Amino acid sequence: MARYAHITGWGMAIPQKVLTNSELEKMVETSNEWIVSRTGISERRIASETESSASLAVQAALKALEVANVHPLDVDLIIVATSSPEHIFPATACIVQDQIGAKRAGAFDLSAACTGFIFALDLAAATIRSGALNTVLVIGAETLSRFVDWGDRNTCILFGDGAGAFVLQASDQPGGILSGVMRSDGSGAELLTLAAGGSKYPASQSTVQNGMHYIRMNGREVFRFATRVMTQATLEVVQKANLSLQDIQLIIPHQANQRIIETAAKNLNFPLEKIVSNIHRYGNTSTASIPIATCEAIQEGKLKAGDTVVFVGFGAGLTWGAVLAQWSGPLPAKKRVYPHRYRWFARLRSRILRLWRRLEGFFWGKNAA
Ligand code: UT7
Repeated sequence: MARYAHITGWGMAIPQKVLTNSELEKMVETSNEWIVSRTGISERRIASETESSASLAVQAALKALEVANVHPLDVDLIIVATSSPEHIFPATACIVQDQIGAKRAGAFDLSAACTGFIFALDLAAATIRSGALNTVLVIGAETLSRFVDWGDRNTCILFGDGAGAFVLQASDQPGGILSGVMRSDGSGAELLTLAAGGSKYPASQSTVQNGMHYIRMNGREVFRFATRVMTQATLEVVQKANLSLQDIQLIIPHQANQRIIETAAKNLNFPLEKIVSNIHRYGNTSTASIPIATCEAIQEGKLKAGDTVVFVGFGAGLTWGAVLAQWSGPLPAKKRVYPHRYRWFARLRSRILRLWRRLEGFFWGKNAA
């Protein structure tokens, strides 16, 4: 029997703190007028000291599970696409797994910069269609504000923090994710980087002094690349699903720059009002931008069951890609589940496991050595 991968749940989480353009005017040599006219951004959200990529990811994930009516114990795999992980390792996805109590799930992070959410969606859908897994939680989560050089006006005006999540489930009903495109070109690797902290440039006095732990970007080159690949990937994914652009009700692009979105609309000859944009309020939230824009499109009634939608993104790497889906919504369920309520149990379980590990080490550790 044919299997389909449906998007059955969605959720988003954003920090409360808003950073406006006028506040940025006091931090670097820029102006509200320049930022709005060159990027479309008016404000962005910044994580507080107690927030992190994992904490935002957990909030978004629980909301998505609630919408899908899926219990954390039924999740088979968690993929967190992120460029600002909690640590180099362990994976942010493992922290999410523990905090939501998804004890039967595998968990890993996916690093493809802003395209990460698209790659994760395409992979999750392929895994479900193959029959290997039934339920996958795909999350895009970022706190890029932690890696922004607040003295670099080329980048600090662009980025914001947030997270978004989708639940993907197997069904024999036709629909869901119908095609995907994943592409990369490492010859453009140096156009957008966070160079240090890995094995090539481990943290040192010199990497800190040279600002190598910050995001650096050749904006003009990335802009040119972005406008080209947004068009290419959209056309490719539509063709792969044996459809034409006229069949598409909505495009939800990565939110990097309003001018990139407008250029793509023009190149595709696609009505701008059918391309979702919320960049004015959140800036570029990297892997989180597409799921956040999707949640808001649903809230505003722009995306409804049965609609055909294209998600398209690009980012450092260079990477780019698109996913085409027939929007479905939650699968019919026999009983209601409450993922939020399960969280206290997940916390308790995590504490017991930690305590058990310590006891094990205390009583049996010496013998094992
Ligand atoms: O998720 C993917 C990540 N990144 C992107 O998608 C970014 C893609 N690129 C862009 O969005 C745009 O290239 C930027 C918004 C980053 C820059 O806009 P631009 O229109 O390409 O500006 P530019 O870099 O060509 O710079 C034009 C001028 C320069 O001054 P001069 O040399 O002409 O005197 C810059 O120094 O604007 C100046 N400038 C600024 N002025 C005020 C650059 N940043 C600022 C700023 N405020 N924040």
